[in-house]
Amino acid sequence: MKISLVATPPAELPVDALAVAVATGQRLSGASLELDKALGGVLSEMIASAEFRGRIHEVLPVPTHGGKAGPRRVILYGVGAINDLDGQRLRSAHHELIRASRTYGYKRIGLVRADPPLAMHTLRAVVEGCVMGTFERRSRQTGAQPERREIEELVLTGFGLGREHEVVAAQENGEATNRTREWQNAPPNELTPEALAQEATRIAQRHGLEIEVLGPEELRTGGYNLLLGVAAGSAKPPRLIRLRHRGGHPGGGPAPAGAPVLALVGKGVTFDSGGISIKPAESMSMMKSDMAGAAAVLSAIDVIAARKVPLDVMAVIAATENMPGPSAQRPGDVQVSADGKTVEIVNTDAEGRLVLADALTHALRNGATHIIDLATLTGAAKIAIGHAASAAVSNDDNFWALVEKASTEAGDRVWRLPIYADYRVLLRSQIADLRNAEYGEAGTILGGMFIGEFTGGKPWAHVDIASSSWNTNTELTTVLRGPSGAGTRLCISLAELMSGAER
Ligand code: BES
Ligand code: MN
Ligand code: ZN
Repeated sequence: MKISLVATPPAELPVDALAVAVATGQRLSGASLELDKALGGVLSEMIASAEFRGRIHEVLPVPTHGGKAGPRRVILYGVGAINDLDGQRLRSAHHELIRASRTYGYKRIGLVRADPPLAMHTLRAVVEGCVMGTFERRSRQTGAQPERREIEELVLTGFGLGREHEVVAAQENGEATNRTREWQNAPPNELTPEALAQEATRIAQRHGLEIEVLGPEELRTGGYNLLLGVAAGSAKPPRLIRLRHRGGHPGGGPAPAGAPVLALVGKGVTFDSGGISIKPAESMSMMKSDMAGAAAVLSAIDVIAARKVPLDVMAVIAATENMPGPSAQRPGDVQVSADGKTVEIVNTDAEGRLVLADALTHALRNGATHIIDLATLTGAAKIAIGHAASAAVSNDDNFWALVEKASTEAGDRVWRLPIYADYRVLLRSQIADLRNAEYGEAGTILGGMFIGEFTGGKPWAHVDIASSSWNTNTELTTVLRGPSGAGTRLCISLAELMSGAER
């Protein structure tokens, strides 16, 4: 989809459909009102008669019967109540606008910048939402026809000219989100730990990034026994993947002393059967998406490197399957982590925190000063907060403030849960330093607190995307259904904020 900025009056745009945002309870104003007048008041009539109410995801094409030069249709799209609006809902409204337009078969879409009442109608949010609306999962059906068609061009009017670099950046962010979604959707026999490493290698080659991929031998040498323990039940070897974008070293020299190094750490469990603590059969296939954190981190560093963000950023991915094969680890096993702590495995299905613990140690060994980890860690995240946001914990208020800011800018929600010292006893084991699971309460927080034992005291945030990365609730329609790419734009924005290259 080509995206361009123009200053043409909306009524003169030669497009198949011209999209006009409407909020509930709001009259048309500014450019939208001008357009309405040019069309003899048909739009305000649709709104006054409540045939179109402006509810979020409401999309209504209106024929213009107009001249030859202007739009063939106007397409009203709802953004809901202004007071309910935030970056994520706004992107969702544009996602739906584009999906509907693709169903109608429009090739060229115009879009009018809404006037001041919709202060959030920013170029970035509009472009990201629209690009995300072009997402089409890659089907493996033979001979199937795509239901929706592709849009050739999106023409934006009223956003000002000379902002092409912002359009390009937002388009990259949207495409990166879609890449994460595609990876989430990939069958687990295709997207294996080895295949994840190959994807990482492709990204490294594209941008000339440093890359290191550790296999079983190197993992044994480095003492990454928590990762090896999870991988033990699988016939597929694990991979600990590390990419490094040296954006903080102008000219490629050594990093200035004390310069920050941001580590993006992703859970890359390409299939989580639960291991010996095996999951029930129903919806086990969903566990192909247990690498959503890894996917988000990979998509993010791809953009960070392409955009040459002036910050040192590394991506660390712990890639493995969690299977119940003959040499699988057992509940009751004790493993020694890469940083020397002993862990009693009481539940082999709490594998995410194990592989992440070793991944954090690997990031620290390689100079990370700040860490954010993304992981489909706990089913409890859905109980705590549902699909509408990622659940997070952090050990550092200043770092968290940056994460929160990045979240707002990216329209990629996170909500921080508390780490109370009281909970620490629940991580205690009778036989080892830690146990990897408990039963009963605060599951999302405890998963995070376990990982928090491996941060070496560095500022860290843990983002549990178990629920936000895949919406299974068919009633919850304004949250992207299926794979969402959660965390992708969050990581990009965080790197940009930390680099000071704020747009
Ligand atoms: N990958 C799962 C978490 C998950 C559940 C992600 C549902 C997406 C949807 C994780 O490895 C897991 O199994 N967690 C356990 C932890 C428990 C044993 C402490 C869980 O949530 O049940
Ligand atoms: Mn599990
Ligand atoms: Zn898992």
